[in-house]
Amino acid sequence: MSVTSNSPALSDNLNLNAQMKVLVIDDEVNFTEEIEEFLDNHGYISFTANNVHKGKTILKSNNIDLLILDVRLKGVSGLDILKEVKLEYPKLEVIIVSAHGDMETVITALRNGAIDYLKKPFRHADIQIAIQRTHRFIELQRTIRKFEEKTSLISKQLQEKIKRDFIGESFQIKEILEMALTAAKYKDTSVLITGESGTGKENVARIIHYESARKDNVFCAVNSSAISDTLLESEFFGHKKGSFTGAINDKKGFFEVSNQGTLFLDEIADMPINLQAKILRAIEEKTITRVGETDPVATDFRIIAATNHDVEKLIKQKKFRLDLLHRLNTIHIHIPPLRERVEDIEPLLKHFVTEFSHKLNKPILKIDKDTVQMLKSYSFPGNVRELRNMTERAIILCKDEILTVNEFQAKISAEPETHKEKVYFNLEENESNLIRLALKLKNYNQKKTAEILGITRDSLIRRMKKYNIFVNKIDNFPAEQE
Ligand SMILES: Nc1ncnc2c1ncn2[C@@H]1O[C@H](COP(=O)(O)OP(=O)(O)OP(=O)(O)O)[C@@H](O)[C@H]1O
Ligand SMILES: [Mg+2]
Repeated sequence: MSVTSNSPALSDNLNLNAQMKVLVIDDEVNFTEEIEEFLDNHGYISFTANNVHKGKTILKSNNIDLLILDVRLKGVSGLDILKEVKLEYPKLEVIIVSAHGDMETVITALRNGAIDYLKKPFRHADIQIAIQRTHRFIELQRTIRKFEEKTSLISKQLQEKIKRDFIGESFQIKEILEMALTAAKYKDTSVLITGESGTGKENVARIIHYESARKDNVFCAVNSSAISDTLLESEFFGHKKGSFTGAINDKKGFFEVSNQGTLFLDEIADMPINLQAKILRAIEEKTITRVGETDPVATDFRIIAATNHDVEKLIKQKKFRLDLLHRLNTIHIHIPPLRERVEDIEPLLKHFVTEFSHKLNKPILKIDKDTVQMLKSYSFPGNVRELRNMTERAIILCKDEILTVNEFQAKISAEPETHKEKVYFNLEENESNLIRLALKLKNYNQKKTAEILGITRDSLIRRMKKYNIFVNKIDNFPAEQE
């Protein structure tokens, strides 16, 4: 008899979550019977086999969690069985049973993936401790696996959602998406996104992050204009407990929080000039020093910055550092205002109608043709955000099954005439549009584009710079092809 019963009565507190399935393979019938009784009494689902063949059949069809395996089976090497089952069932844990003094076998078994071992003869307490420990380990593994599955599912769903949510049929939007996906491939490259308020800068930043190798880590969006000047430095760089009144704990700053991820600096034009110098240093050195500390900390982040201001103008006004701009705009993505890409209005409208019909528990409303026409002639100073808000309001107001001009009218007819004139007769906007269109038409060949525009290539390049068209430094970008 291998199991001795003089064990101290360990309290039966193995109350771990799921019932664990345990298989015992041993050629001694007495042994398997005794262990079986022990397992049954302690709330496990037990299986026994007195030969390897039967054991393997049970393994195949019962999703066993733990195998208690005697390595001294008749005619076969228990160590070979161990290797075999670990290969076939990598999640299966194995406790081996060995003879007293056979340490060499035990060491080999542990190296081959056994989680624990028991020496014959052993006490109930020994087996209970070994099983309890293994059970905890299995539960932990299960929790980790569930968590991993869940996070990868969330990130997958989020990515799909983000893709679906970046709507547009204009060539500008297609180009922006293409550029964002290219930027995503270079996980350390800084990106500057410019465009009027509500054009979708944050959407583009998120696409870059969630399509990049950093996607499983944090996307930290920071708008420095929303943080008080006194706290700015500690918010960005973190602080040591007690380094100033109110610093009651050690705190990580945005740079450290974004480690392995992306730091999205929204509205960089509002960043005080003294902080700009510190931010430039952090980007260049990839290390930061917390307020009140002396030792620098390494942190690996990618910066995506955004602004709706004309940065060149801010530089002339000495409100923005040129060296920081150069650090930030390795890739520059400009999102034109919605009025310069009217083809996007209808698909965006349909998208928002579906979104809000669902949210507001209404049937999906049809859209009257005149409504689309009317929206296309509106200047949308608030861009896509304005269209989205307008659509939500219209759906709330709509009493019929079709959205008509009536639901939008108030807002649009309130538009001052001067604004409308700006849309249609603004020379600069039309010129930038024409250049983009011509570039697209000539597949970004600058020489051919200049030709159809009737200007020299130098003049085209000057204008492209002026309108922020494709200023980027990544190889093989369309604008750099000849
Ligand atoms: N192409 C698009 N497809 C779908 N939704 C969009 C698109 N562009 C913008 N939006 C939506 O419009 C709203 C404004 O977008 P976002 O916040 O990204 O703009 P922004 O350029 O960052 O504006 P701001 O400068 O005011 O911060 C959001 O609800 C966003 O989801
Ligand atoms: Mg924004």
